[in-house]
Amino acid sequence: MRKIKVRLGNNSYEIYIGSGILSKVGYWLKEKGFIGKIVIITNPIAKELHGDTLQEALIRENFDVVLLLVPDGEEQKSLETAARLYEELSNFGAERLTPILALGGGVIGDLAGFVAATYLRGVPLVQIPTTLLAQVDSSIGGKVAIDYNKLKNRIGAFYQPKLVVTDITTLQTLPAQEISDGLAETIKYAVIRDKQFFTYLEQNLDKIKSLDNVALEEVIFKSAKIKAEIVEKDEKDLGLRNILNYGHTVGHAIETASDFKVRHGQAVAIGMVTEGRISNMLGILSRSDLIRLRNLIKKADLPVEISNLNVNKVIQAIKHDKKIFKGKIRFILPKSIGSVFISDEVTLELIERVLVGRYEEA
Ligand code: NAD
Ligand code: GLY
Repeated sequence: MRKIKVRLGNNSYEIYIGSGILSKVGYWLKEKGFIGKIVIITNPIAKELHGDTLQEALIRENFDVVLLLVPDGEEQKSLETAARLYEELSNFGAERLTPILALGGGVIGDLAGFVAATYLRGVPLVQIPTTLLAQVDSSIGGKVAIDYNKLKNRIGAFYQPKLVVTDITTLQTLPAQEISDGLAETIKYAVIRDKQFFTYLEQNLDKIKSLDNVALEEVIFKSAKIKAEIVEKDEKDLGLRNILNYGHTVGHAIETASDFKVRHGQAVAIGMVTEGRISNMLGILSRSDLIRLRNLIKKADLPVEISNLNVNKVIQAIKHDKKIFKGKIRFILPKSIGSVFISDEVTLELIERVLVGRYEEA
């Protein structure tokens, strides 16, 4: 098993990454001083696959366990579902030191995290992510939220977990599309921070896609470490953490313009290539790096350009989402594989040219 320490003063915690480690959660929580009641929040899919293992691990250590079930899907990140969970926590007699364990993907992590942050002004939270995206991204860094008025993550908090337990064997049942979604974020980490990791991905992507445990552990460890290091330097997203938005400015606009029919990972993939092309047009990112980026994204079974999408709608969504100053938007752009910079030079016209393919690679 490998461990990563996220150093945030009083809010520091560890991420445990390994195979078959779900069965140790009870022991670790007891070791951390928890006793008595404990709450698992999960959905039917994660419960069916891993609920028994987790419950047994907790009962073995004499915890009094209740499992609260939430239906599958993003629409559960709602005030209504949170209110129902508060009610169930109250019925169970959950107290200030009763931990909430979030077992599932990013939806469960964000929702259970939001409930943990707000119930009784905050109860301990343990993230047990079971999708690749949740293991490399959403379980780390303390952003918890629900959606409101069709706006994603509109109500939320920064609320760090006490522990993250990442059991990579849980990924064996994950559909290929979900693996690709997670890979979009791992490729992002490599581009913004680590050239060697990018090369590792180029050389090992087939193994990762076939869910080889050694390759998966390496990718999750490297990704989690990069995210943890960025969060340590800028917990509240006031500066450096913005670089995690690489690929997401255009990506979010594509999701919005498609009424969320384009999946998040796919939209971020197109966003990363589009933002790479913009950088190339500005004379920064080399053509060879742009080609490497495009090839790796394709190899991860992700798209590199928009098809059947109204470019105007995408541009409108970018305009709506971002502050525009003198016709220019602040963008995180790749400088070369492994580093990014912030540009204030990107115009809507430039984005449009790239999106419709009206440009020459330099
Ligand atoms: P998800 O939670 O909906 O999970 C995807 C699907 O996989 C679901 O159907 C889920 O039930 C299923 N699933 C979960 N574990 C499984 C397993 N082991 N085997 C088979 N199926 C499994 O989606 P996601 O991609 O994990 O997360 C997306 C959410 O994460 C979004 O709401 C997004 O806003 C949020 N997010 C948050 C952060 C953050 O920093 N907090 C970062 C990125 C994304
Ligand atoms: N997912 C972006 C962040 O955690 O800041």
